[in-house]
Amino acid sequence: MNDRPIGIFDSGVGGLTVFREIARVLPRESLTYLGDSARVPYGTKSAETIIRYARQAAKHLVDRGVKLLVVACNTATAAALPVLERELTIPVIGVIEPGARAAAARTAGYVGVIATEGTVRSGAYGNAIRAARPGTEVVEAACPLFVSLAEEGWANTYVARQVAEIYLKPLIDRGIDTLVLGCTHYPILRATIETVVGEEIAIVDSAETTAQTVRSKLLAIKEQAGGSSPVQHFLVTDAEERFQRIAGQFLEQEIGSLELVEL
Ligand code: DGL
Repeated sequence: MNDRPIGIFDSGVGGLTVFREIARVLPRESLTYLGDSARVPYGTKSAETIIRYARQAAKHLVDRGVKLLVVACNTATAAALPVLERELTIPVIGVIEPGARAAAARTAGYVGVIATEGTVRSGAYGNAIRAARPGTEVVEAACPLFVSLAEEGWANTYVARQVAEIYLKPLIDRGIDTLVLGCTHYPILRATIETVVGEEIAIVDSAETTAQTVRSKLLAIKEQAGGSSPVQHFLVTDAEERFQRIAGQFLEQEIGSLELVEL
């Protein structure tokens, strides 16, 4: 038993898609979420910069005593997961491997991955999907505007729909049967994306499989929470009011316990 919180971080509100799933699957766990709102987006930055940001976010959460770290950002997972795994003494879970496994289990052989420029550039999804299901065709596309639309609370607008049509049409035309939402911000636009791709294409969001991975890990190391009053705490590096509004909308709950921090 271990009642210390699970730490979860992302560049902004995107990781809340993973947070929500972990809270659903592991309702007794305390969760500390860090959104690096001062430096969002990560997706357009270099791998070196992302590694620096990820180290700072991880250190902050480790100093607060988290028992396990979830890198709820594909861009940070692609650039920094091996570094964090090497440097930290607590378990570290990224979102790419779980998403890739889910896609490999789902596809008939042709997967589309939408992600940030950084994640696409890394080739991490293609490698992980082909490792899980050799011979799979993987086509990747960057959709940077989705991050701004999610951060702006514009996920369900006609603007989002038009942007989704422009980004997704080339993938649909290539005949993909499965679409991976390879950025944790994108599930916030899931309804819009679903309308554009239609029912024929299966959508994979790594939040679900990541939450299951966290659950299995805690079981394996016997560190599940035993307490009955889990605490959810949110940290941001800038613009608390904005985070409170957008996160509250997405999670459909009051964001009560929120703190401004410097990394
Ligand atoms: N949500 C993040 C991801 O999964 C990063 C989005 C961004 O900051 O560009 O990649």
